Amino acid sequence: MTLVRYEIRDGVAVVTIDNPPVNALAASVWSEIDEAVQRGVADAAAEAIVLIGAGTTFIAGADIKAFELLKTPADSMARSEGTHALLKRMEDASKPLVAAIHGNALGGGLEVAQACHFRIATRNAKVGQPEVMLGIVPGAGGTQRLPRLAGAAMALTMCTGGKPVAAPEALAAGIIDQIVDGDLLTGAIAFATAKARAREIRKVRDIVLPADAVTAGLEACDATRAALKRTAKGLRAPYAVVDAIEAGLTLPFDQGSVREREIFAECVASTESKALRHLFFAEREVAKVPDVPKDTPTKEIRRAAVVGAGTMGGGIAMNYANAGIPVLLKDVDQAALERGIATIRRNYAVTMSKGKMTAEQVEQTMALITPTTSYDGFDQVDIVTEAVFEDMDLKKSTFADLGKVTGPDCILASNSSTLDIDQFASASGRPSQVLGHHYFSPANVMKLLEIVRGRQTGKEAIATSLKLAKKLGKVGVVVGNCFGFVANRMLAYYMREAYLLLEEGASVEQIDRVLTEFGLPVGPFGMQDIAGIDVGARIRQYLKSIGKSRAEGPQSAIPDRLFEMGRYGQKTGAGWYKYDAPGSRNRTTDPLIEDLANEEARKRGIVRRPINDEEIVARITTALANEGARVLEEKFATRPGDIDVIYVYGFGFPRHRGGPMFYADTVGLPTVLSRVNEYRARFGDYWEPAPMLEKLVAAGRGFYD
Ligand code: 3HC
Repeated sequence: MTLVRYEIRDGVAVVTIDNPPVNALAASVWSEIDEAVQRGVADAAAEAIVLIGAGTTFIAGADIKAFELLKTPADSMARSEGTHALLKRMEDASKPLVAAIHGNALGGGLEVAQACHFRIATRNAKVGQPEVMLGIVPGAGGTQRLPRLAGAAMALTMCTGGKPVAAPEALAAGIIDQIVDGDLLTGAIAFATAKARAREIRKVRDIVLPADAVTAGLEACDATRAALKRTAKGLRAPYAVVDAIEAGLTLPFDQGSVREREIFAECVASTESKALRHLFFAEREVAKVPDVPKDTPTKEIRRAAVVGAGTMGGGIAMNYANAGIPVLLKDVDQAALERGIATIRRNYAVTMSKGKMTAEQVEQTMALITPTTSYDGFDQVDIVTEAVFEDMDLKKSTFADLGKVTGPDCILASNSSTLDIDQFASASGRPSQVLGHHYFSPANVMKLLEIVRGRQTGKEAIATSLKLAKKLGKVGVVVGNCFGFVANRMLAYYMREAYLLLEEGASVEQIDRVLTEFGLPVGPFGMQDIAGIDVGARIRQYLKSIGKSRAEGPQSAIPDRLFEMGRYGQKTGAGWYKYDAPGSRNRTTDPLIEDLANEEARKRGIVRRPINDEEIVARITTALANEGARVLEEKFATRPGDIDVIYVYGFGFPRHRGGPMFYADTVGLPTVLSRVNEYRARFGDYWEPAPMLEKLVAAGRGFYD
C-alpha cells in the first residue's frame, strides 16, 4: 500500500504522508518519504519540495509499536543508523525542502521537519519532542538539531518536559520559519517557490552555535540535571536527554548523532521505556469495551446535576463546570450548600493563584454551578451523579427519588466507592440507565473515573460515560460491580499488608518512605490521613453489619482504634501522624502509633522484628498482583492494562513501573507466585495464590504474553 503520495503542483513536488490516523512513521513511511524526496530532487518539473501530512495532522512520531522489534541495543543501533542516514540524505536535497505542519509534529515528526530546510505551520499547530514520556530520547537527530535551531535551553525544556509548544511560540524560538493563516498547502507552495527563486537552502545540522551559546548551553545542562533531582526521581530518560543534548553541544554533528543513537538504544531497551509504552497503549485501549461497539449511540450531555455538596460532590460539579456544562448542585439544607460552594471557591482560588485561571474565568465557571436544596430543574438534566454519604439506605432512597424527578432517559450515576450498584438500579426503577461513576479524591484533580457496570446497565449509558469522561478530562475505565470495584477492592489488600507490616515491626514512617521511594506520590498511611480514616472505618462498620470484610485475612484493629479516638487524619489534626493543626499538612511522628502497634502485636502473639525495605515492597506489590489476577479471572476488569491504568490514574502508581500488573511481569510471575506461597507458609492460608497466577506460571506466561 502506498502511504506517501507524490504530485507536482505549480512547479513544486508535493509529498503527502497518508498513514491514518496520525501519520506515524512506520518503516515503509520512512522509506517512501525518502524515495519521494529523491524523486522530487530528480524531477525537472519541480523547483522545490513540500512535505505535508494528509488528514488532521503532520506526523505524530515514529511508530511506537515498532519499538518492540528493537530487542537489543544492537538492533536499535542498526535501525537508527539507517534513519539518520535517510534524514541526512533529505537534508542534502539540492532543492528547497519545506515541511508544512498542521495538527502535530511530534517526536520523529518534528525530527523529519528539522531535516527539512524550512518549516512553516498553521497557527494552531503544535510541535514537540515527547519521547521522554515514553522513556526514550529523541532518536532521529532531535537532540542534535533542536539545540542548533532553538538553542540549548529551549531544547532542554522541550525534550526533558515532553510538552509540545504551540506554533507562535515555536516561531519565536526559531523552530518554525513562518505561520500560515490561509490554506497551508497553498502557503507552502508559495513559500517553497520563493526559496527556490532565492536559491536558499538551510541545513540545520550546519548551524554552528557561538562559543558563548555553547557555554550557556552546558550550564543549562547542569541546571537541568539539578532540577531533575526533584522532578524525575527514579527515572533515567530525562537525564539521558540531557546527556544527548550535552553531547550535541560539545561534539561535531556526526559524532553527537552517534552518541544520541547509543543513548536511544540504551533507553529503548529499558524497563522504564517498556512500562511507559505499555501505558501509552493501555490508556487508549481502555476506551474499547469488547461488547460495546464503537458505533453505540451516545447521549449528548448538555446539563448535569450532582446530589451531595460534600468534598466529592463539589469536586464532581467542578468537573462539569470546567468542561462548560451547567450543573445543579443539590444538598439537603442551605448551610451544607454554602459550605460546599465555599470549598469550590477555595479550590478555584488555588487554581487562580497558580496562574491557571483568571478571576474572570473563575467567575464564568462558578456561574455554571447552580446550588439548590430542591429537585427543581432535575427533569431537564441529562445526567445526575449521586455523591451522598456512603450509606446504602440513604443512597437507595436517593435513587428512588431520582427515578421520579428526572426525565425518562436521564443517566443516573453513583459516586459510591464500594456499594452495590445493582441495589441502586432497582431502587431507581430504571436500571438500564444506572451505573457507577466512581471519582477519586480530589475529584476535580484525579484523572481516573471508574465506570461501574451493573447487571442491567445499558450499552448507551456506558458509551456515553466513556465519551463524557474524555470531555471532563478524565480517563474512564469500565469495571464490574464487585465490592470496592477494581481500585478499592485491590486497595484493601494493599492496606491489609501495610497494617500487618506495621504490627509485625515496621513503622508508619518506614512504610510510607519505602513506597514513596518506589514512586508513589504518598505512602498508605499518609494517603489515609488525607482521605480520612473515618471513611474506611464507616465502610468496615457497614461490612461488619452484613457479615463481610474488605480483604481476606487478619484485619488490624489499629485503624478502628484511631477512628474511635476521633483521629480522622489531616482534617482533625491527628491520624497516623500528628499535624500542626486541623487541616495542616505539616506532620510529625506520633509515638502513640508505635504503642498501639506493640499492643496489637502482643494481642495477636506477634513478636515484632526489624523489617527490611525490600520485604515491604514485595509484600505490598505481591498482594496487589495476586488480587489483580482474581479480579481478571472473575472478569471484573477487562484486561490487565485496565488495572494498570486504574492504579496509575487513581493512586499515582509510578508510570515508569507500568502499573501493578505490568510490574508483576517485570518481577517475573514465577517470583510473584513463589512469594505468595512463601507468605502462605509464614502467615497463613489467606495468602492463597490466585488460580490465574498459577495457570500463567505453569504455562510460562506473564499477564501480558
Ligand atoms: N505510533 C503508533 N500509534 C500511534 C502513535 C504513534 N506515534 N500516535 C498515536 N497512535 C495511535 C494511537 O494508539 C491510537 O490508536 P487506536 O485508535 O488504535 O487506539 C490512534 O493513533 C489515535 O491516537 P489518540 O487516540 O492518541 O488520538 P488523539 O487525537 O487523542 O491524540 C496525538 C493524537 C496527540 C498525536 C497522540 O496520539 C500522541 O500523543 N501520540 C504520540 C506522540 C508521540 O509520543 N510521539 C513520539 C513517538 S516516539 C518517536 O517519535 C521517536 C523518535 O524520536 C525516533
